Amino acid sequence: MNLRTRRIAIALSAGVVLALLVWAAWPTATPIEVEETIGTDLPADTFHVTPFEDEFPAHFELYLHNMRVEDYVSKLTVEVEPDLPILWSNLPFSKSYNYPRGHTFGLEDVLATPRIGDASIGSCMTCKTTAVPTLLDEFGDDYWSASFNEELRPRVLELAEEGRDERLGEFGHMGIGCSDCHDPQTMELRITRPSLVNAMERRGFDIMEEATKNDMRALVCAQCHVEYYFDADTKKVTFPWDQGLRPEDMWEYKENEAIEAGFAYDWIHGVSGAPMLKAQHPEYELWSYGTHGEAGVTCADCHMPYRRIDGRKISSHFWGSPLEDVEQSCRTCHADRSSTQLTQRVRDTQERHLEAMEETQALSVRAHYYINRLITAGADEDVIEETRHLVRKGQWFWDIIAAENSDGFHNPHGSMDAMRMSSDASNEAIRLATRELVRLGVDIDELEDMIAQTRQQVWEEEDPLQKAEWVTNEYFPFQD
Ligand code: HEC
Ligand code: HEC
Ligand code: HEC
Ligand code: HEC
Repeated sequence: MNLRTRRIAIALSAGVVLALLVWAAWPTATPIEVEETIGTDLPADTFHVTPFEDEFPAHFELYLHNMRVEDYVSKLTVEVEPDLPILWSNLPFSKSYNYPRGHTFGLEDVLATPRIGDASIGSCMTCKTTAVPTLLDEFGDDYWSASFNEELRPRVLELAEEGRDERLGEFGHMGIGCSDCHDPQTMELRITRPSLVNAMERRGFDIMEEATKNDMRALVCAQCHVEYYFDADTKKVTFPWDQGLRPEDMWEYKENEAIEAGFAYDWIHGVSGAPMLKAQHPEYELWSYGTHGEAGVTCADCHMPYRRIDGRKISSHFWGSPLEDVEQSCRTCHADRSSTQLTQRVRDTQERHLEAMEETQALSVRAHYYINRLITAGADEDVIEETRHLVRKGQWFWDIIAAENSDGFHNPHGSMDAMRMSSDASNEAIRLATRELVRLGVDIDELEDMIAQTRQQVWEEEDPLQKAEWVTNEYFPFQD
């Protein structure tokens, strides 16, 4: 159905709209059926968050909750991610990998992360600040490949001079904010990142013409919560969706279209020397073929449930774990279960998921070290290449799932399927390597002992920044 032709373009006052919202959807969770237009007095190119406060004080109030103090918490600990420093050897992620923080910290965090260096490009800015459409206007297509540190950082700092508000800290007025998801004049949901529009277009879906209002409640999130890579020529943020949204579809795309277009790998692994792929947060993709996605239950349904403020219901604009408010996030639809039951169900799913993840990652660890041993034992080049390809595949299929931030909840079955494909590939790499190593007279028991020792040393190092130092050693020399 076409939104634009259907819309009744009468400007209703915000009060009437809110009354309609109360009357409309909840608690049955059918999408709101009234096409409202909320007029504001803001200029069309408003990108700071602060000017929205006068127009929408209640939304702004909720939005400020994203500033709740959250320190950086590293995931690179034995308790959370014991093996990642090995699995991401020679990748900057192996030194810094934290839990996500609130939307208001987007810009602050990208300006601070040690993963940004002099080689970083404009594309890295794309999901971090409301200034991106402005930057795209100013830099044109050069935005994507511009130097992050030399060109974009100074311009962003300049743009951030205005619109500060101490409640939002240094950069919260320009993190992920209102104009990223709303037209500042009509407050309709909108897409501001061209990469999503282009990816959907290649899939034969015209967002502007075809997206329903309910679609938009997930598509606004899909601007950022997706897997992407940088196009080899233009450096544009590109979504590998041409063959579909499942990990296996994206794998096929990366093995074919992406390579043909000049994108062969993200980095060379320090242990196996394999050309690796790095996956990023595919929340949208996993959700899209999970139970809730298929039932049309959107991101906003769970992550932006209605809240009552001054007697009115408005969508929460504090994005975090739905489990902090199961009553509003889940029980509106699942009234037959208690909050405790629902929470327990999520935690059970996540626990099983994380156990499987640990096993599949451990297989990848072994595969990398087996390949390292193939290299030092002078194995046949064909075997090295073949096992490298298998370790690349095995790692893709768990990494895309590990990068998905719900620990399996958004799509438990899809996640398990991908991890099975991962284990199959890693096991095959180990099987082929073992055959060759035995032929070369290498002692497999000794190799397994050395893997166990090395892994133990990485685990025991307490400083996440130092862990990478233990990943390679005399027995397993660094490869690149
Ligand atoms: C990440 C995307 C996103 C950001 C950022 C965002 N919103 Fe929203 N907003 C939504 C979604 C999704 C809805 C639900 C819209 C719907 O169902 O039609 C919504 C709804 C609204 C509504 C309609 C009434 C309601 O509560 O459902 C208003 C007004 C609004 N937002 C204001 C704001 C303001 C002000 C800001 C900045 C402080 C902001 N939004 C930031 C996604 C966003
Ligand atoms: C413009 C890009 C962008 C858009 C649009 C966006 N996000 Fe985010 N989101 C991010 C980034 C970046 C982070 C991590 C911020 C950090 O750690 O500094 C994040 C973090 C989150 C978190 C974790 C917050 C925490 O405190 O742990 C949730 C939940 C989330 N987003 C949900 C959503 C939902 C739901 C939508 C759509 C309604 C959405 N996001 C739209 C970029 C975006
Ligand atoms: C059926 C409800 C539901 C839907 C729909 C849903 N999520 Fe979630 N999401 C959850 C739950 C539950 C968690 C796990 C929270 C936890 O572990 O505490 C979660 C976790 C997350 C996280 C990690 C939060 C954190 O603090 O680390 C992000 C980011 C996220 N979801 C984004 C999205 C996006 C984007 C969409 C839509 C494409 C979406 N979710 C759809 C329920 C949902
Ligand atoms: C807007 C309505 C809606 C909301 C909100 C919602 N769900 Fe669901 N949920 C559904 C529907 C519809 C199904 C599919 C039911 C079916 O097929 O019987 C479902 C299925 C499930 C299932 C079984 C399928 C599976 O994937 O394991 C669980 C568990 C579940 N929901 C938990 C939650 C939790 C936890 C939350 C809150 C974080 C939540 N739901 C929020 C509508 C919703």
